[in-house]
Formats: sequence, structure tokens, C-alpha cells
Amino acid sequence: MYIVTGATGHTGSQIVKKLITLVPASKVGVSVRDPQKARDLEAAGVRVRRGDFAEPDSLRHAFEGATQVLIVSTNGGDAEGQHRNAIEAARAAGAQRILYTSHMGVRATSPYLPMRFHAATEELLSGCGVRWISLRNGFYSESALFALGEALTTGVIELPADGKVNWTARADLAEANAIILADEQYPVGPTAPLTSPEVLDFSDIAKIASDLLGRPVTRSVPSDAELRTKMGARRIPDAYVDILFGMFEATRDGNFAAIDPTLTQLLGRPPTTMRSFLAQTLKG
Ligand SMILES: NC(=O)c1ccc[n+]([C@@H]2O[C@H](COP(=O)([O-])OP(=O)(O)OC[C@H]3O[C@@H](n4cnc5c(N)ncnc54)[C@H](OP(=O)(O)O)[C@@H]3O)[C@@H](O)[C@H]2O)c1
Repeated sequence: MYIVTGATGHTGSQIVKKLITLVPASKVGVSVRDPQKARDLEAAGVRVRRGDFAEPDSLRHAFEGATQVLIVSTNGGDAEGQHRNAIEAARAAGAQRILYTSHMGVRATSPYLPMRFHAATEELLSGCGVRWISLRNGFYSESALFALGEALTTGVIELPADGKVNWTARADLAEANAIILADEQYPVGPTAPLTSPEVLDFSDIAKIASDLLGRPVTRSVPSDAELRTKMGARRIPDAYVDILFGMFEATRDGNFAAIDPTLTQLLGRPPTTMRSFLAQTLKG
């Protein structure tokens, strides 16, 4: 049985929707924190069980009968400990393969905190004794939108100095992740970076947004100190601000600038561009 975690989240739900077009729904199970939120999947014939990474006993039940487990990474709290519990539960359930949603920018020394969690989890996978695949997803285009905040309304993108990033639509990545999960012959280990064919910085995004909106959107790069003061005034928590600055430092180091054709090959079509992603978002 294929078990997918996080199936009530954005990526996990789209992975399962694609997966049940590739394998029978009766062979798919989801491990979710709140089964009530997965009623649509149950109606589609998917086995729904409660599983919380913070409660290993719940995972024993949720992963029962697993041959393949796809772990959707978490962000908050003790992400590394949660991933360790999920890997151990998959191994104990007898899974023959464990897949994990990692990131193209994974690095143990990255200034961007989530990349260090991913690196620690890849390390756990490499020692777990089960075949594993780390799905090195591109940077979600949705994260660029999140970083933009109110900028499309105000017309000024005010963010730290940045480098080029390969922004990749979450829906495309979920589709590709499901294709890899369904393919039991897919090469083990880290995948190539699953990316689009273009890299952009926020000046490029400002130009695209100006075109789409028909009014100027400009890029402003205040000093880090000035930005920190402004964010503090908006009561943005320091921990979040530190993570954001770490992300921009990693972009300047080129950690998210790889371009690779694997995603295009898996999808059998060009991935969604940032222009078309923004156009769809603006249409609402
Ligand atoms: N590639 C990128 O650029 C990028 C960008 C942002 C995030 N990410 C990573 O990709 C992951 C998926 O992204 P997303 O947009 O789908 O996020 P999301 O919608 O927040 O989904 C995260 C999922 O993890 C589940 N989860 C959280 N804590 C858990 C726990 N203790 N035990 C079991 N499940 C737990 C959540 O369960 P509930 O549904 O119950 O809340 C949710 O389904 C994120 O969590 C993050 O690690 C990647």
C-alpha cells in the first residue's frame, strides 16, 4: 500500500489526487492529523487514518501495511524529530521505499533554516536501511507570492537584496512527486533538482507584475537594518524575520538557481512559468 502523509495540506492533497490516477485508490492510504478533513479522499476510495508525527503510536496504525511511504515534510517545531519518527514508523511498518519532500537548496550549512532540516532528514534517510528517495523540489512559486506580501497592491517590492531563484509551481511539483512515487523503478537517492527552465530575481518579478497589472511595480532594496526596523514596527516576529533574511542570503549564494530538465520530462510538458502562475493568481 502507498501511504502519503500531510494529505490534508496543499502539496500532499495534490500528490494523492494525482497518485489515484496512476494506481488504484484501494492501494492508497493517507496519514493525516485530522481525518475529518480528508473525507473527499475517503469518498474516492482512499484509506484514511489518523497519524501525527509527534505521536509515534498513531503512525503505527496509520502506516499499517505500507510498502511505500511518502513523507511530506513539516516546518514548525521539532521538524527533524518529527521526520525521524515518520522514517522509523515507515521502516517498522515494512516499507520497501521511503520518499521525502526535500528541497533543491538542501544544505547542512545553509543560512536558510528549512534547508538545514532537510539536510538532517536526508542524513537520517541515508542511514535508515530502507531504499529512499529525496524529492528535491524547486522553490514554491507560492513562497514568492508570500514574500511579496502586499507589494502587488502597494506597487513596491521591498525585500532584502536577492539572487536568482528557480520558482516552481507547487501543483507541478506535487504531480511530479506522485509520478515518482508510482514508479517503483525510479532511481533511489536524491532526485535532480525538480525545477522550471527559468530563474528570476525580484526585479524580474516586478517587471512581470507591472506587465500583468498594467501599472508600475518597482523593486526597492532597503538596508537590512532599515527592513528589520520596518518589520519590527509591523510586529513581525523576530524568528520569522531571521528566517526570511536567511532565505535571501541563500538566494544571493545561488542556492536555488539550478535549472534541470527532469521536472519537464516527468510532467511531459513545460512547467508553469512565474508569469502564468502570477496571472492565474491575479485573476483570483
Ligand atoms: N519547496 C518549497 O519551496 C517549499 C516551500 C514551503 C514549504 N515547503 C515544505 O513542503 C511542505 C509541504 O508544503 P505545503 O505547502 O503542502 O504545506 P502545508 O499545506 O502546510 O502542509 C503541511 C502538511 O504537514 C502536516 N503536518 C504538520 N505537522 C504534522 C505532524 N506533527 N504530523 C503529521 N503531519 C503534520 C500538515 O497537517 P494538517 O493538514 O493537519 O495541518 C499538512 O498536511 C511544508 O510543510 C514544508 O516543509 C517547501
